[in-house]
Formats: sequence, C-alpha cells, structure tokens
Amino acid sequence: MQALAPTPQQVAPAGRTLDVDSLTVRYGAAVAVDGVSLGIEPGEVVALLGPSGCGKTTLLRVIAGFVRQAGGRVLVDGTAIDHLPANQRNVGIVFQNYALFPHMTVAENVAYGLRARGQRGASVEQRVERMLEMVQLGAFRARLPRQLSGGQQQRVALARALAVEPSILLLDEPFAALDRNLRLDMQIEVKRLQRQLGLTTILVTHDQDEAMSVADRIAVMNKGKVEQFDTPVAIYDQPQTLFVNGFIGTTNLLPGKVAGLEAGIAVVALGTGATLRLPAPRDIAAGAPVFLSVRPEQLVLEATPTAESWPVEVGLSLPLGSQLVHEVRTVDGTAMKIVEPRRRSPTEVPRRFCLLAPDARPSLFPRSTP
Ligand SMILES: Nc1ncnc2c1ncn2[C@@H]1O[C@H](COP(=O)(O)OP(=O)(O)OP(=O)(O)O)[C@@H](O)[C@H]1O
Ligand SMILES: [Mg+2]
Repeated sequence: MQALAPTPQQVAPAGRTLDVDSLTVRYGAAVAVDGVSLGIEPGEVVALLGPSGCGKTTLLRVIAGFVRQAGGRVLVDGTAIDHLPANQRNVGIVFQNYALFPHMTVAENVAYGLRARGQRGASVEQRVERMLEMVQLGAFRARLPRQLSGGQQQRVALARALAVEPSILLLDEPFAALDRNLRLDMQIEVKRLQRQLGLTTILVTHDQDEAMSVADRIAVMNKGKVEQFDTPVAIYDQPQTLFVNGFIGTTNLLPGKVAGLEAGIAVVALGTGATLRLPAPRDIAAGAPVFLSVRPEQLVLEATPTAESWPVEVGLSLPLGSQLVHEVRTVDGTAMKIVEPRRRSPTEVPRRFCLLAPDARPSLFPRSTP
C-alpha cells in the first residue's frame, strides 16, 4: 500500500504517463470530442479549460471508462486501456456534481470503489478510515450526504476517488460549488495530495485563475478540439488562436491592416490611426486585415502624443483595489480597457494618448472581414 503521509525525505511515487491519442466521441450525429491528442507527463496536473459543452466531461468519461469513443485510444504508460472496464482502470474520478450515493453513509460512499473492485473485510475498513482522516471527515463517517455541507460532500467525493489508490486522478469542476475561501483550501489540499501520491491529474475547471494556479499545463478546448496545450504563462502571453486569446484573461482587440511585411516584421496600420512595427506571425500576409490583441496592463496613458501613440477618450476610471481601470474609446470607436497600478495624484493632467507599454507583448491574428 502506498504511504499516505510521506516524510519530505521520501521520494514521491513515480506517476504514470497518460496519453490521449486522436480521440473522437460522437453522440448520434454530434461530435462531442473531435480528434483530441494530449500527452500528459507522470505526476503532472493538466487543467482542461473551455466553454460549456466543448467536450471536457466527455473526455474525462472516456478516460475513466464510462463512455466509449468512436475513434482513438487512451494509453497509460504506453499501454492502451480502452478494452478495460472502468473498475479495472486504476483511475479515480470526482464527478462534476460529486454524484455521492444518497442512501449510503459517508464511509459506505468512500468504500464503494474498493468493494466494486472485489475487496472485502478489515482492509477496506482501514483504508476508508485513513481516507476520511486525510480529508478530515473522520467524525462524519456515519452521516448521509444530505447531512453534509457542499464542501464536506466535496471532500467525501475526493476521498472516494483516492480510496482505490488510483495512478490517475480526474477532477471534473470539483470546486465549483464552494465559496472562495473553501475553494482555495481545497485547491491547496488537492495539490498537496496529488504531489504526495504522485498522481497524474486532469482538472476540469471554468475558473481561469484556478487553472493558472493549480496546473502545470493547460489545454484550452473549443468545440471538441484542443486549440492550445501549453504552460499557463505561454497560454496567457502567447495565445496561438483568437479563441484562446479571448478566452484567457481580458484583452483588447484593435482592428488594423498589415501595411507592409519585411524580415519578419509587420508594419500594422491600426484603425486608431497609429502605425506599429511588430514581430509578424507566420500566417499573416501583407495587406491582410488583422486584430492586434493587447492586454489591459500592457497599455499606458500619456498626456502628450508620440509617434507610436494614438488619441483616446477616457470615459470611466474605476479604482479596483490596488489597480485603476480605465474605460477608453479610440477615434475609430473601439472600446478598450487599460489597467494601471493606482497612484494618488489628484492634480493629474488629463491623459488622452494611449501607447503600448515598453514590455508589452501584443499578438497579431488574422481578421476575417464580412
Ligand atoms: N449522453 C449524451 N448524449 C448526447 N449528447 C451528449 C451527452 N453527453 C454530452 N452530450 C453533448 O456533448 C457535448 C459535450 O458535452 P460535455 O458534457 O462533454 O461538455 P462540457 O465541456 O463538460 O460542458 P460543461 O462545462 O457545461 O460541463 C455537448 O454538446 C453535450 O450536449
Ligand atoms: Mg462538464
């Protein structure tokens, strides 16, 4: 049996690799997962992020063995597991709605997976007790799920998933029902357990901050496909598609046109009147309509114009904690947000010119014109 509380000197167990290879799932004529491939390293945490209905739960259900794919394979340590029933896959799953059995006590819920795997007797009892201690619910073992709070039910679902000593942990929006503080506690708890047990983990979430803080890598899904699979920083700083760009964080999209291209540099004429020179992505042609995407914190406001600034009209300026958020509008009518650290200067001169911050890393995307 795996040690549950290793001392820092003990090495974390080596996790398993999980490979999803060209996976496609259909429900009737509809394609829910469309040729998804992901290579996940041992002990890695991958967040699946994407809008409702993009296929996240379906993907997890195929890996766990509850849904059969139309094509593609799931491999653990290089071996296909598609022929195995769910209870032989060594995969722990926490469902989107917890799915605790309402008529079973907390202890019976946690024991469920062990019994489904044919285990009986004192070893099951011991394992259940250890799991309940781990999620700090030892005193609740005889209660029914409806006698627990959402956060406690969450912990039971986690204990049930971990009871079978999985090598792969699948978490489907496990923290969605929790309030902010409890969510943070559970995020830390899951990360700690995941590290301790060396669990290769997929976490489905709607919460970008959660994905950014918990995951080693993020897969952004859209309409059944993975649009980008990368580190959180790369997803934020170098989004590969307009969809990923708009889905992660807040961004401003400024329409423009490629006025010239030379030696990998695009000269971009923005609708705001400014002309900027930027590294050109591969799929951009001279004359092409483009969007310049720039994050609110990568823009600055100035009182005087420069060669690369453009005039804006500043509407609202809202203090948000340590930041000041400006709602501005360009001469071509594009609404933008600019965020800067809040400094107190009551006699400030009006600032009506906007430009890229020195360290700004804007992205260029092709723009389809109607
Ligand atoms: N059993 C089913 N029968 C038919 N269609 C289904 C079934 N389960 C899911 N779908 C459809 O497949 C698509 C993907 O569903 P899925 O549950 O994987 O999305 P999701 O990304 O988990 O969404 P959410 O964020 O809302 O949980 C959706 O269009 C959904 O309506
Ligand atoms: Mg879902």
